[in-house]
Amino acid sequence: MAEFNFGGVVEEVITSEEFSLQKAREILANETVAVLGYGVQGPGQALNLRDNGIPVIVGQREGGKTYQRAIDDGFVPGETLFPIEEAARRATVIQNLLSDAGQVATWPSLKECLNEGDALYFSHGFGIVYKDQTGIIPPENVDVILVAPKGSGRNVRLNYLDGSGINSSFAVFQDFTGRARERTLALGIAVGSGYLFPTTFANEVHSDLTGERGVLMGCLAGVMEAQYNLLRKHGHSPSEAFNETVEELTQSLIRLVAENGMDWMFSNCSTTAQRGALDWSPKFRDAVSPVFDELYQRVIAGDETRRVLEANSAPDYREKLDKELGVLNQSEMWQTGATVRSLRPENRNKL
Ligand SMILES: NC(=O)c1ccc[n+]([C@@H]2O[C@H](COP(=O)([O-])OP(=O)(O)OC[C@H]3O[C@@H](n4cnc5c(N)ncnc54)[C@H](OP(=O)(O)O)[C@@H]3O)[C@@H](O)[C@H]2O)c1
Repeated sequence: MAEFNFGGVVEEVITSEEFSLQKAREILANETVAVLGYGVQGPGQALNLRDNGIPVIVGQREGGKTYQRAIDDGFVPGETLFPIEEAARRATVIQNLLSDAGQVATWPSLKECLNEGDALYFSHGFGIVYKDQTGIIPPENVDVILVAPKGSGRNVRLNYLDGSGINSSFAVFQDFTGRARERTLALGIAVGSGYLFPTTFANEVHSDLTGERGVLMGCLAGVMEAQYNLLRKHGHSPSEAFNETVEELTQSLIRLVAENGMDWMFSNCSTTAQRGALDWSPKFRDAVSPVFDELYQRVIAGDETRRVLEANSAPDYREKLDKELGVLNQSEMWQTGATVRSLRPENRNKL
């Protein structure tokens, strides 16, 4: 555990330098890890664990693309790939990476598969914190722990492969064995975290639900669409509107923010752009602040989780999501995006 100064606030983090992969392997030497669910987060964590030498099996319901993907990734039915409950029974660490709605549906049968001393692991505080909605109340004789990568499961894998890792938060909700914390940190390092920072189940789920509905996804998509529509309404061409809204951001400016912060990005733009951005940023902040207040209140009140469970518990949830994503994909803005991307020099020879 090392202390770092985050803008004047001192916080503790665990890096892979102090908590090495070797140490993680020793702590997990006698464990079998079952990754339940092979959706987005499941493959990233399962493959990283496997490549890091941790004994890992996958629990995934049969049929469908997800099951086939686990097979394609080298998990063998009957050897390292099992029905969800059987995988849980065989393991000592049960990583519940089913969709949050799937965790609710399977909990009644899953809880029967837990053995004393097991570690029940989540990557989201959803199921435990909103227990009134989910019914997920673990027995007292297991550890209940969390490692929540701050990125898509796809990047959990890609960042592991390029050596950069991904930041994760961690928390212990219940420590039955007295080993919950070391198990959590070992798993956090073994799934490919670059560093781990402490949180609680409640803080994790409240910040995560806010972030993905806000700046990371919902707000981002909304403000991009608003600006694109504005430019189109005033006669700008699709390619101009898209380049000024998305392409310049993703191909240039956001990379500078990632490299060295917002002032660095500003200072690498024209003084004309800097003047305008400095003047307009507070207006946008103040305009969206009430929307963020509403969002956070809905998260705390459980309205957002209720909505998720209602929508994603439907048997045809995937078809419905695919349909909504298809509408986005087929919109003029994102079809323009496809053409703009195809014109990037590295893609032009594929035309
Ligand atoms: N997505 C991310 O990158 C990310 C990032 C951080 C944390 N997390 C957390 O990680 C966990 C997993 O998220 P995810 O995005 O990877 O989930 P996801 O892609 O939505 O997971 C879908 C998985 O759950 C299974 N599933 C869904 N409903 C089921 C049911 N009723 N019975 C049995 N299996 C069912 C699916 O199987 P089928 O394909 O057969 O339906 C699939 O294996 C969640 O707690 C999430 O909040 C996710």
